[in-house]
Amino acid sequence: MDSFEWNKVFASVIAGALVIMVISTVSESIFHKEHAEKPAFTIEVADADAGADEAAAEEGPSLAVLLQTADPAKGERQFAKCKACHTVDQGGKNGTGPNLYGLIGRAIGGHEGFKYSSAVAGHGGEWTYELLDHWLASPKNTIPGNSMSFAGIGKADQRADLIAFLRQHADAPADLPVVEEAPAEEAPATEEAPAEEAPAEEAATAATGS
Ligand code: HEC
Repeated sequence: MDSFEWNKVFASVIAGALVIMVISTVSESIFHKEHAEKPAFTIEVADADAGADEAAAEEGPSLAVLLQTADPAKGERQFAKCKACHTVDQGGKNGTGPNLYGLIGRAIGGHEGFKYSSAVAGHGGEWTYELLDHWLASPKNTIPGNSMSFAGIGKADQRADLIAFLRQHADAPADLPVVEEAPAEEAPATEEAPAEEAPAEEAATAATGS
């Protein structure tokens, strides 16, 4: 073969390669389009689920749940915020605030030898875990008119740690609050979700096919 014939061979090889490239590019773009539509439906479903999860996370676990894993050692570090005014050991002195030994189950405003504000002294009842949690989050909103100058602790887990620490400073630690079974009841509802997705996806496929 002379060089002219070789050129023809090369030309046809290149032409063939071009045809293959064009076909594959066109078919790929068609293929991609089909796929671009399908995930659009899947993403919608995924978003709805994420929204539900976020709502649950915002609400956060209950105090009873947090107390199951609360760490008194971390709570002791939180107590540094209280030390200026409170002691917590048995027989500890009253300072700006009353001694806090045996606080849970103790009468509100009931510690001997401390002069409470009339708001706290007149409140009645005893310190429960729930009330203490609210008090530590915002004393002002829990018993308006009290004289404890403390803004509050915003984080629920930090309050739980502190409550676990206070709980230990008693003749006998009070029983922890019972964890309600609500999360277990929610489980079947989440399991149903995928079953609902199936018909939606079939409809999507049908719509794409037509
Ligand atoms: C600036 C001083 C100050 C700080 C800081 C402070 N307290 Fe108090 N606390 C008081 C005073 C004063 C009272 C009494 C309030 C009243 O009579 O109105 C009080 C009352 C209380 C009571 C009610 C006690 C009872 O016998 O009814 C609790 C519980 C309590 N404080 C816990 C805490 C904890 C826990 C901290 C730390 C996170 C804290 N306080 C930080 C001053 C303080």
